[in-house]
Amino acid sequence: MKYIIGNWKSNKTEKDVEDWFLVIKKYFDNSTLNLFNLEIIICPPNIYLKRVKELRDDNRLPIKIGAQNISPFGEGAYTGEINGRMLSEYAQYVIIGHSERRKNFKEDDSLLEEKANQAQTFNLKPIFCLPDEKTFIPQNVKIIAYEPVFAIGTGKADTPENANKVGEFIKNRKRDSVFIYGGSVTENNIVSFLNAGSIDGVLPGKASLDPHNFWEMIKNASKF
Ligand code: PGA
Repeated sequence: MKYIIGNWKSNKTEKDVEDWFLVIKKYFDNSTLNLFNLEIIICPPNIYLKRVKELRDDNRLPIKIGAQNISPFGEGAYTGEINGRMLSEYAQYVIIGHSERRKNFKEDDSLLEEKANQAQTFNLKPIFCLPDEKTFIPQNVKIIAYEPVFAIGTGKADTPENANKVGEFIKNRKRDSVFIYGGSVTENNIVSFLNAGSIDGVLPGKASLDPHNFWEMIKNASKF
């Protein structure tokens, strides 16, 4: 099983989301690819979770939905927060600990552990992001995404060899983990990452925004 996890970050209008689905639907409808070994996940901004689920369901697309963040709290007086119970109506996965949140929103290890606990309470699978192999990993996390800061949004991906070494290290630390690489993944380099022994999937940001690029990545990953 290989994972492709598209992180849309803080991008797109609702119209853009609908257009993205129009294009990707055509690709799926005309495709003869074997997609059974692929877990395709899209992580839209929260405000589009409902629309993405409708578009996915109406078009019967083999796409899972992930959120980009989760409240560290449950329901209650937490103005502005979207909690796990709300997310679980639409999503199966949730990204936790992305370096953009660690940096811009000062999220630290104990907060991220609370978020992972909330995800578990509501049956959301955390996709836990780390800038390096030594970073704290909460106990109940299985999917681990290595995203070196220098590679995020820069067009300068890490080498597959180095990402593979980090994957081996992480899998030694946590035996049953699923190891994902993220940072400037494109349709051109995806195969080199998926070919590396310890890498179970990729987490493209920018390249997932364009449905043509995203389809190319699906096509290349379907060979594994
Ligand atoms: P990028 O982002 O593919 O645009 O580098 C990846 C990520 O931050 O998840």
